[in-house]
Amino acid sequence: MRRPFIAGNWKMNMTAESGAALIKELKPLVKGAKCDVALCVPAILIPTMVRAAKGSRIKIGAQNMHWAKNGAYTGEISAEMLKEYGVKYVIIGHSERRQYFGETDQTVNQRTLAALANDLTPIVCVGETLEERESSKTNAVLDKQLTDGLAGVEDLTKLVIAYEPVWAIGTGKTATDEQAQETIAYIRKKLSKLFGHKAANRVKIQYGGSMNAANCKGLMAQKDIDGGLIGGASLKTDFATIVNFDK
Ligand code: 13P
Repeated sequence: MRRPFIAGNWKMNMTAESGAALIKELKPLVKGAKCDVALCVPAILIPTMVRAAKGSRIKIGAQNMHWAKNGAYTGEISAEMLKEYGVKYVIIGHSERRQYFGETDQTVNQRTLAALANDLTPIVCVGETLEERESSKTNAVLDKQLTDGLAGVEDLTKLVIAYEPVWAIGTGKTATDEQAQETIAYIRKKLSKLFGHKAANRVKIQYGGSMNAANCKGLMAQKDIDGGLIGGASLKTDFATIVNFDK
């Protein structure tokens, strides 16, 4: 049985003031949730949001981290720095990082291994572009992202996969329940080949891409979908509706 996991990705949004105010509103709303809940916030907001979320179901995550322990990497953040504030989750290889900041499957792999070595739970993002989907390359793209991005991972169940079709992110164009289920089932099948059936059956796979209060129930009802990685809808109290998808 895989426990559902709903995570928000604030991306480059919110301030210390507006973020803390939203968490204050969310706290009572997510109290009875039966799933794991996280908000991945901009690095500079982490200390304030950890304080704001204290005593609630909401765990605070980061949106990226570097693989080195420390050193001359201007602008980067280490696992140790995240852990010092009680961070548990870290998004790795989001498509926006791949698209705008040169993230590759190799750097995704380095970050993922470093997160695991530091007892952080990486949320590893994979997904195809519209062009790749339309030219029937989705499975090949996912194969490569999973094989290269997860190379050397010893215990697959210590991480979370987020399937985020790039064409569904921030576009309001969600994958249909069937499309999301079909692709996530494919991902599980691929993981089964790479890591064995038992681990693939236990690993959590989220869907991400315009998931919202209205479409979350249908997506979450799918057999292989274990949660969501929520962008826009995590910036408002709609996030609580998604967390309570089973109510
Ligand atoms: P939206 O929910 O805004 O489409 O963003 C999805 C996403 O990229 C989460 O990481």
